[in-house]
Amino acid sequence: MDKKVTVIGAGNVGATAAQRLCEKELADVVLIDIIEGVPQGKALDLTQAASIEKHDAKITGANGYEASKDSDIVIITAGIPRKPGMSRDDLISTNAKIVKNVVENVVKYSPNSILIIVSNPLDAMCHVAFDASGFPKNRVIGMAGVLDSARFRAFIAMELNVSIENTHAFVLGGHGDTMVPLPRYSTVAGIPITELMSKETIEAMVKRTANGGAEIVGLLKTGSAYYAPASAAVEMAESILKDKKKILPCAAYLKGEYGINDLFIGVPVKLGSNGIEEVIEIKLTNDENKALMKSADAVNELKSFLKTL
Ligand code: APR
Repeated sequence: MDKKVTVIGAGNVGATAAQRLCEKELADVVLIDIIEGVPQGKALDLTQAASIEKHDAKITGANGYEASKDSDIVIITAGIPRKPGMSRDDLISTNAKIVKNVVENVVKYSPNSILIIVSNPLDAMCHVAFDASGFPKNRVIGMAGVLDSARFRAFIAMELNVSIENTHAFVLGGHGDTMVPLPRYSTVAGIPITELMSKETIEAMVKRTANGGAEIVGLLKTGSAYYAPASAAVEMAESILKDKKKILPCAAYLKGEYGINDLFIGVPVKLGSNGIEEVIEIKLTNDENKALMKSADAVNELKSFLKTL
């Protein structure tokens, strides 16, 4: 392949993302983890599946960063996942140290890469990666909104018994309990869901979406969701690698857009070969704006907490 993607963290999200990247023939993949043997073993296993899955992507596993040299994209999933009863924010101290260390290494070998951050708490980890990398804001992107809107789409399709392909969902804000799903911009075959469902049904779906990660943590008990998070990160990577210029909801560093400054938060962005090529600003109602500001306050609190570490 002429593109190279490194995935840091060969756990559930990282290994699944690596599998999707190579099966879609998007890039050669390097899988890095601190646990000896795990990235190498998973890379070898994926390599042995290649003839059956019919792809020619090369997959390498490593514990050091040399193999990641000159990556186009680095997806960061390193960290500890949520356990039952743990909020994403409980993870902050541990994962901040891990992400800082990872990014410092990534930057040495791939100074021109685009970072896709997956580790939680997402918006806070974007700040850690932004500060540690010194990269411009277009090259540090958080994966949250694509996952949250995919969850919302799944619930819409389930509720209306329609093809998931007909659904479109719009989610703003931080990746947490304060996320802001926008029902009036969420559609089925172009029809706003507000025309198709009662207010109560939509409210219940919005609540389930905001609680989407915790619902899965509660079921799995030993970890957090990974199939959909990996799919979401790979959709972002694909738009960048192929310069598709898809509009996707991602955590982006805002400089005045939506009246928010110096903060990573989920907004619709255009993703192309330069990473974030545009932040799309839409007009919000008073209530939506209030909800977004509440979400920004929650991210700001985490940002302040990071300074105390
Ligand atoms: N460098 C590289 N890898 C690391 C480091 C590090 N400093 N620290 C931890 N890891 C690795 C772990 O060894 C583990 O293999 O990160 C991997 C994390 O994998 P899992 O425990 O399976 O967690 P996962 O479900 O993949 O979630 C990873 O993504 O969605 C978020 O909240 C989730 O923050 C979590 C992250």
